[in-house]
Amino acid sequence: MERWIFGILTFILLCHDNLNALDFGYHDNDKMAAFLTEVNRNYSAITKLYSAGKTVQNRDLWVLAIGKDVHAGHVMLQPHFKYVGNMHGNEVVSREVLLHLIDYYVSSYGNNATVTNFLDNTVVHIMPSMNPDGFAAAMEGDCFGVIGRQNANNYDLNRNFPDFFAVNPAPMQPETLAIMNWTRQFPFVLSANLHGGALVANYPFDNYVNASGIQKYATCPDDDTYIDLAKTYANNHANMYTGAHCGDNFPGGITNGALWYPVTGGMQDWNYIVAGCFEITLEISCCKYPNSSQLAMHWDENKQALIAFPLKVHIGIKGIVRNESGHPVAGATMIIRGRESINFTTTDHGEYWRLLLPGTYTVEVYTIIRVLVIFPRLSIPCNMFLNQNFRRIYIYCNSNCASMCSNVRGCVYRCLCPWGDD
Ligand SMILES: *[C@@H]1O[C@H](CO)[C@@H](O)[C@H](O)[C@H]1NC(C)=O
Ligand SMILES: *[C@@H]1O[C@H](CO)[C@@H](O)[C@H](O)[C@H]1NC(C)=O
Ligand SMILES: *[C@@H]1O[C@H](CO)[C@@H](O)[C@H](O)[C@H]1NC(C)=O
Ligand SMILES: *[C@@H]1O[C@H](CO)[C@@H](O)[C@H](O)[C@H]1NC(C)=O
Ligand SMILES: *[C@@H]1O[C@H](CO)[C@@H](O)[C@H](O)[C@H]1NC(C)=O
Ligand SMILES: *[C@@H]1O[C@H](CO)[C@@H](O)[C@H](O)[C@H]1NC(C)=O
Ligand SMILES: *[C@@H]1O[C@H](CO)[C@@H](O)[C@H](O)[C@H]1NC(C)=O
Ligand SMILES: [Zn+2]
Repeated sequence: MERWIFGILTFILLCHDNLNALDFGYHDNDKMAAFLTEVNRNYSAITKLYSAGKTVQNRDLWVLAIGKDVHAGHVMLQPHFKYVGNMHGNEVVSREVLLHLIDYYVSSYGNNATVTNFLDNTVVHIMPSMNPDGFAAAMEGDCFGVIGRQNANNYDLNRNFPDFFAVNPAPMQPETLAIMNWTRQFPFVLSANLHGGALVANYPFDNYVNASGIQKYATCPDDDTYIDLAKTYANNHANMYTGAHCGDNFPGGITNGALWYPVTGGMQDWNYIVAGCFEITLEISCCKYPNSSQLAMHWDENKQALIAFPLKVHIGIKGIVRNESGHPVAGATMIIRGRESINFTTTDHGEYWRLLLPGTYTVEVYTIIRVLVIFPRLSIPCNMFLNQNFRRIYIYCNSNCASMCSNVRGCVYRCLCPWGDD
């Protein structure tokens, strides 16, 4: 009897899994758009399909956004996550696994507690192809070539972003400008851009001052968090974590970007340094454009990692910076003591997010009104911190410190101001 019931349940689950039955073949640009349109039609309540801009050859950069609140406009403190695939047009596995991830998300919503809870509290934006022009030129079976890598103006899009450490002489391409514009329209907190040709999770910095090609660990102030993020992908992947693939040796299946090789104009560093979004770069297959018979295997290898990584958008601290009369403060600078070289600023609604591992941190916040006039009356409302595993949060404040901290476990206040006289 028990076995019989188990059999029925298994059967139902399997049926459900196959509901949409996205095939394991390549989907050219038209088929990809058709699939996204159909998903959007079938799951209109939790999805939104939009174009983030146009390519050189006037193709759309399609994005499918998924989440309970995808049509709600802005939901305070709800973080947005993004995946960008196929940035190099001939690195195509990401494009297909992202379509399968979309399929998985929409069909699991309401059926799987982990996925449902995640999509109830997050908006996930998936751009399966950032370089559909390049894809149109690339050839199946070309594992190591470069045909289709660049955009249609022959620029490498992952060398096309403004660089913090060096001058990037490359003229910015329509795809790059579209991504920058898009990234600024949503409060993206975490993202990954996906590639092929290796098997590794790569994290900032990708460059350093006067790099001139020399491999060197370029430590960013959030190195600890980034290692954790990269490991989340590598450890949840079927075999990335072993590090020995494609002729490479990456301990743990992760690497600092500049240690592997310095890159000027990468998208990852721009996201982190300029846009305030933690991004990593994922290399997910040795062969850039494998035979389509390999796609089911690649989805199986990447599936759990693709699901586990975005969950990390909820680590660390988030909250709203308000002034003394309780109004949210836009554009305030958040500094984590010891991590001063990367500043995050609050959104138009005064929100901030900062991915951090459990620990003790000192958070400072300030804003500048007009040039060099430091506005001295800012406080972080402690009760807006949603802290997980934080032993202690230090709040600097000018007044009402005790009431701000009351009822919040682990909240410690100091009534002095880093911008004050002492
Ligand atoms: C959309 O729904 C139709 C009808 O149930 C189904 O046949 C089709 O497979 C679905 N497609 C996707 C992509 O969800
Ligand atoms: C729900 O989804 C998560 C993430 O993919 C998975 O680990 C878990 O096994 C699923 N739960 C069920 C009951 O299928
Ligand atoms: C930037 O995004 C906005 C909103 O989607 C859009 O109206 C505008 O045309 C975009 N600008 C560029 C240069 O892509
Ligand atoms: C970079 O090179 C320039 C020109 O040689 C030099 O002036 C500068 O000090 C170097 N900076 C660093 C951080 O090495
Ligand atoms: C893919 O593999 C199949 C079977 O191994 C073969 O028939 C087909 O020609 C291959 N396709 C390409 C583009 O190499
Ligand atoms: C707080 O911000 C609001 C809106 O910007 C402003 O009107 C108000 O004067 C500010 N209050 C203080 C105490 O600065
Ligand atoms: C961050 O803010 C600090 C303090 O104002 C400043 O010294 C530093 O240059 C800023 N960093 C960046 C990258 O803007
Ligand atoms: Zn690439």
